[in-house]
Amino acid sequence: MSVLNWIDRRFPATKVWNEHLAEYYAPKNFNFWYFFGSLALLVLVNQIVTGVWLAMAYKPSAADAFASVEYIMRDMDYGWLIRYLHSTGASAFFIVVYLHMFRGLIYGSYREPRELVWIIGLVIYLIMMATAFFGYLLPWGQMSYWGAQVIVNLFAAVPFIGEDLSIWIRGDYVISDATLNRFFALHFLLPFVLAALVFIHIVALHKVGSNNPDGIEIKQNKDAQGIPRDGIRFHPYYTVKDTVGVGVFLIFFTAVVFFWPDVGGLFLEAPNFEPANPLKTPEHIAPVWYFTPFYAMLRAIPPMFGSQFPGVLVMFASILILFALPWLDRSPVKSIRYKGGIFKFAIVVFAISFVILGYLGMIPSTRMLLGLEASLWAQIFTGLYFLFFILMPWYSRLSQAQPVPERVTA
Ligand code: HEM
Repeated sequence: MSVLNWIDRRFPATKVWNEHLAEYYAPKNFNFWYFFGSLALLVLVNQIVTGVWLAMAYKPSAADAFASVEYIMRDMDYGWLIRYLHSTGASAFFIVVYLHMFRGLIYGSYREPRELVWIIGLVIYLIMMATAFFGYLLPWGQMSYWGAQVIVNLFAAVPFIGEDLSIWIRGDYVISDATLNRFFALHFLLPFVLAALVFIHIVALHKVGSNNPDGIEIKQNKDAQGIPRDGIRFHPYYTVKDTVGVGVFLIFFTAVVFFWPDVGGLFLEAPNFEPANPLKTPEHIAPVWYFTPFYAMLRAIPPMFGSQFPGVLVMFASILILFALPWLDRSPVKSIRYKGGIFKFAIVVFAISFVILGYLGMIPSTRMLLGLEASLWAQIFTGLYFLFFILMPWYSRLSQAQPVPERVTA
């Protein structure tokens, strides 16, 4: 094709297509868990497209923000659809990325030689959280306002510089017009940073090649042409498989968008249908579901000398500890399939703790559950969450691994 030739002489279009799609050899045994990388990419594109569209009608000022969202919902053609695609997309993004991270956890995808893929993934995750936090203030509802108030106040707990730091973040003594304006700027910027990081994430992955449910390095067994014996071309095999994943995902996604966009207060919280009122604190302030496991850990730690700083430290540590994972796991095998019973048990306890912490972060910490206060349960599950990591160097070596087969089991 002459146009392609013309381009190829000036830009490596065919080379990139071949290296990253047509001739990228991926393990032939990808399963259900391998859908979520491409789905995360899809949701990121959805967020950028619908977000830019929303920004055309949204007004980032304390006086106009709430009304401009109402305008989008009621008067703008298909504004409701664009907004619900964006709000549902935010939750879908976290669902998909949590499953994507869990895949990495069970198959040991964080381990050598994919440590950087994992670390870049975690930076992506941190930026996703920041983006969601900034975005949540924009509708300027009661929960937007008070949620931001609570979270920015956490920075005030940092010793010595805390007070100045929180004023610097807000641009004011309370969440105000100045805060809304800067959060809008950052909320618009960060998804593009995410897109750049996702590019680096995939470049790093393609340098070392994908892991798989058996945790076998397919590059160590190549044929005479240098092609991994257990690899298949990404295109058409996985482009087709991922398309099926996209179809199934869209059935669930659109069902929520069209029939249940608030998901009973989980995706869109009830107090956020009321405009922000700096003089009226809502009865119960809770972040959106994807932050609640960390919120539960924050509240689990009692203030010391009147300062919430220990809780803030524990909350940040709960995320930062994920960066150490590649060096904590000393098991001789990567995949959960061949790890011993102790490791399997640890992963189950960890996953259950994370989900329970998510629930505990949603309810008032004084509520009684099975005879104990929710905050006490949160302490127990925060302990289990951290023990998973802290004890890993020990139990990963102790846990009797099973022999790994020579070739992947398709
Ligand atoms: C915007 C968010 C993200 C996007 C679009 C994204 C995209 C992708 C894609 C397309 C792949 C290759 C296909 C696959 O293995 O499923 C991949 C692999 C991977 N990602 Fe992500 N990712 C994101 C976030 C994360 C996060 C938060 C982590 C972990 C902290 C992570 C860790 C990994 C790992 C370890 C692999 C290699 C998996 C393997 O080979 O078994 N990613 N990612």
